[in-house]
Amino acid sequence: MRGDAGAGRLAGRLIGLGVTGSIAAYKSPDLVRRLQAEGADVQVCLTPSAARFVAPLALEALSRHPVEQDVLALLPDGRIGHIVLADAADAIVVAPATAHWLGAMANGLAGDTVTAAVLATSAPVVVAPAMDGEMYAHPATRANVSRLRDGFGYTIVEPEAGSLASGQSGVGRLADLGMIVDAVVAAIGNRPIRAPDPGSRPPVVETPRPADLEGRHIVVTAGGTAEPIDPVRYIGNRSTGRMGVAIAEAAFARGARVTLIAGLTSVPLPAYARVIRGESTAQMRAALLATLSGPSGMAGFDALVMAAAVADFRPTRPAESKLTRGGSLTLELEPTPDLLAEVGRVSRGLDSEGAATRRPLEPRPVLVGFAAETGSLARAAGKLHAKGLDLLVGNDVAEAGSGFGTDTNRVTLFAPDAEPEPWPLLSKRAVADRLLDRVAALLDERDAARQTALMTTEPADLREPTR
Ligand SMILES: Cc1cc2nc3c(=O)[nH]c(=O)nc-3n(C[C@H](O)[C@H](O)[C@H](O)COP(=O)(O)O)c2cc1C
Repeated sequence: MRGDAGAGRLAGRLIGLGVTGSIAAYKSPDLVRRLQAEGADVQVCLTPSAARFVAPLALEALSRHPVEQDVLALLPDGRIGHIVLADAADAIVVAPATAHWLGAMANGLAGDTVTAAVLATSAPVVVAPAMDGEMYAHPATRANVSRLRDGFGYTIVEPEAGSLASGQSGVGRLADLGMIVDAVVAAIGNRPIRAPDPGSRPPVVETPRPADLEGRHIVVTAGGTAEPIDPVRYIGNRSTGRMGVAIAEAAFARGARVTLIAGLTSVPLPAYARVIRGESTAQMRAALLATLSGPSGMAGFDALVMAAAVADFRPTRPAESKLTRGGSLTLELEPTPDLLAEVGRVSRGLDSEGAATRRPLEPRPVLVGFAAETGSLARAAGKLHAKGLDLLVGNDVAEAGSGFGTDTNRVTLFAPDAEPEPWPLLSKRAVADRLLDRVAALLDERDAARQTALMTTEPADLREPTR
C-alpha cells in the first residue's frame, strides 16, 4: 500500500522511518502500515543492528521503497539515498531508538543511515526510545535525550512502563504506535509538503510481475527512423531504442512472444525477440502491415506498442547518387504516413477515408502509442482519439531525466474516458511494466467480452426452423 494522497492526516507526506537495534524493531512493519493508513508514503532506514531484528525485505515490500541500510551505498541513479530522504521527508521518526543510537545522535556521529538522514534533514524529527529500564534511567541516556529534545528541538515520545524483553519491568517499553503516529502528525503541523514531486523522492520498488502475457504476441517498435536524402545521408532523430527494448524485455519476462520492429537503434537488441529491421518510415510501415494480419484474416498480434520515433517528414525525392558539395541545398519534405493511425484503421476494417470496406481484425489488437512532445502534453490526448488508440504514453522529451538516451522516463498515460495519469520519474523498465499491466488488463477484458459475445450468439443449428 502506498500513500493515498487523498485521505488521512499525513496525506501526500513522505515520512522517513528510522529503525534501530531494539527488540521492539519487530513493531516497525506495523508502524509503516499505520503511517500509510494516514496517507503517508514511507521510506525506512535501518541501522546494521536493526537489520538483525527485522527483515529489510518485509519493510521494502511494505513501503515500496528500497530500505536504506548502507550509509556508503549510492542509489542506482547515483543519488545518495539518505540525503534524498533527508531532503524530501516531511518528518523523520526514529522508532524504536536504542540507547546507543541516542548517544550517536546526541554527538552527531553519522555512522549509519538513520543518524546520517536525521543529521542531514531540516524536517521535524520524532524519537521514540525503547530499552531496558536501567538503561533509560542512566544519566548518560537522560543527558542524550535532553540534548535531542532541548538542544535539537526533536519531539521525544517517552517510553511506557511495563514488562520488558529482559524479563524485568520498568520504564522503557516503546510507546504505543498510535501515540507515535500522533506525534508525527503534530510535529509536521500545517507545514507545506516539502517534495510533492515524486521525482525528488526516493525511488519506487516495482514488484515482480506474473506471467500474465503468456500466449500473447506483442509487437514493439523501437528506435528512430532514417529518411534518405541520398544513398549515404538521411534525416534522423535522437531516439536510441531504449524505451522500446525495455518494453520488449518486460513483455518477454511476462511470457509473451515478442516481435521487435527496430529502426535506427544504439542499444543492443534482444536475442529472445524476433527482430525485423525497418529503418525508414516506409520500411517500418511495410514490416508493420506484414505483421498485422495473420492466417485467415486473424489479427497477427495481440498488442502493438509503438515506441519508435517515426519521422513526421521525409525528403520528397531522395537523390539516387550522393549529393556533392556545392552551394546551398534546399530539401523539399513531404509528410510521412501516420503508421499508428493506419494500423488503427486497418484493425477496425476502415479505409483511409474512414469507410468500413473490410473485415475488422479478430480479435481486435490493443494499440498503444507514444507521443514525444516538448514543453506540453496538451496535444497528446487529441492523438489518442484521432488515431483510435487504447492507450497513449505522452512524454516531454525536453524534461531532465526523460526521453532520449536516458535510463529513466517521466510519462503521462492517456486512456479514453479517463483523466490523464502522470506517473513519477521511473526507470524505463518500470514504465514498461506499468504499461504492460494496463495492456494485460485490456487483453483480458477484450477476451472476456469476446467470450460473452460467443456464448450469447445462438448457434445456427439450434435455431427454431422457420416455416
Ligand atoms: C535481544 C536484544 C535486544 C535488545 N534490545 C535493545 C533495546 O530495546 N534497546 C536498546 O537500546 N538496545 C537493545 N539491545 C542492544 C543493541 O542492539 C545494541 O546496543 C546495538 O549496538 C544497537 O545498535 P544501533 O543503535 O546502531 O541499532 C538489544 C540487544 C539484544 C541482543
